[in-house]
Amino acid sequence: MTRLAAAQQQVRKDFLQQVQDGRLEKPAAEGSALPNLAYTCPDFFRLEQQTVFRDNWVFAGFVHRLPATGDMQPVEIAGQPVVLVRTGDDSIRAFHNVCRHRGARLVNECRNSGKFVCPNHSWSYSLDGRLLARPHFHGGEKHDVNRVECHRADLVEIRCVSWHDWIFVNIGGGADDFASCVEPISGQLEAYDFTTLRFTEALEFEIEANWKLAIENFIEPYHVFSCHPWLNSFVGMDERVAPTFDDKVLSCGYEFQTTDPARAGALPWFPDLPPEKQNRGDWFVLFPNFAFEIFPDQVDVFIAWPEAPDRCRETIALYFVGEGATDEKYATARQHVIQNWINLNHEDIGVIERMQSGRNSEGFDGGVLSPYWDPVLQQFARLMTESVSGETL
Ligand code: FES
Ligand SMILES: [Fe+2]
Repeated sequence: MTRLAAAQQQVRKDFLQQVQDGRLEKPAAEGSALPNLAYTCPDFFRLEQQTVFRDNWVFAGFVHRLPATGDMQPVEIAGQPVVLVRTGDDSIRAFHNVCRHRGARLVNECRNSGKFVCPNHSWSYSLDGRLLARPHFHGGEKHDVNRVECHRADLVEIRCVSWHDWIFVNIGGGADDFASCVEPISGQLEAYDFTTLRFTEALEFEIEANWKLAIENFIEPYHVFSCHPWLNSFVGMDERVAPTFDDKVLSCGYEFQTTDPARAGALPWFPDLPPEKQNRGDWFVLFPNFAFEIFPDQVDVFIAWPEAPDRCRETIALYFVGEGATDEKYATARQHVIQNWINLNHEDIGVIERMQSGRNSEGFDGGVLSPYWDPVLQQFARLMTESVSGETL
């Protein structure tokens, strides 16, 4: 057993022991959420990379970033180098971004190429991962031509699906079908014609806090009256309801009487939106770290990328409907939405970083929860526990 594996086994044991006090099973008023070590411990960070981010469907990239055959994008998922590629049959596939010979990372930056070529000894691979050539493999000018056992040297493929503009991978290969993971919300989404959406802009934020705090903050609306006074002035707490959950999908939403100008205001709406969706916003987390919001005129995607136990990066990608995404006459309205997101996010980052700081305190270890708003935090903690332990709770 390596030192690292031993450290991870120990932290897994410590973590499971701490959550076995009934905090996840009791009603929220008597229960609690994740213990401090899940937010602070470097060994736990490595453990969750190798379990949570390996065994679930994890967001890896945007379809719109790979528009042409041969477009390649290196990403890092679960601490491992992965490459996304658009292949000749117009699908997007994912491979371990590593040469089968001596393990050099194949693709270092976004690029377009007809094949993968390793810079080390020039082994080459087709876009669908098959070994093509090994120069001088049998000695000077004796190239590999018969491809004996060359399947041993094909790139190692990773399970990959595209859902709207979003690419998900499952490195471990054992996750349930992606379709079944999003099935709980398919009914809620079917009124929206996602093909009318156009990507407009991505905002990036660095946060001095664990990625889980950003996701937990995203799904719970309890903090709105306190942290987002401007947002609260349009939709008060009496119009808000507690988040719900169905397995790995966490959900929340509201029906608004009046809306702020940055949501369902001046921009074109999804076509043929039924009346019950015209004054409605919904948001969702797909465990572990992908979230999105949907309003009559926009979809906003939110990803919290883990970088360290106490640091993450947030991407917020904004999509508008049809010409709302590009037409000059909507430029001011778009800018309003973008500025709104920047303002809201800075309001959130302040408390997210405070919660990170609080997780170094002996005076806190999972929290005293609201029986109304916070059961979703126990569900998030249960999902973390299931992934880390490999067992269903
Ligand atoms: S390491 Fe890639 S060809 Fe040798
Ligand atoms: Fe917020």
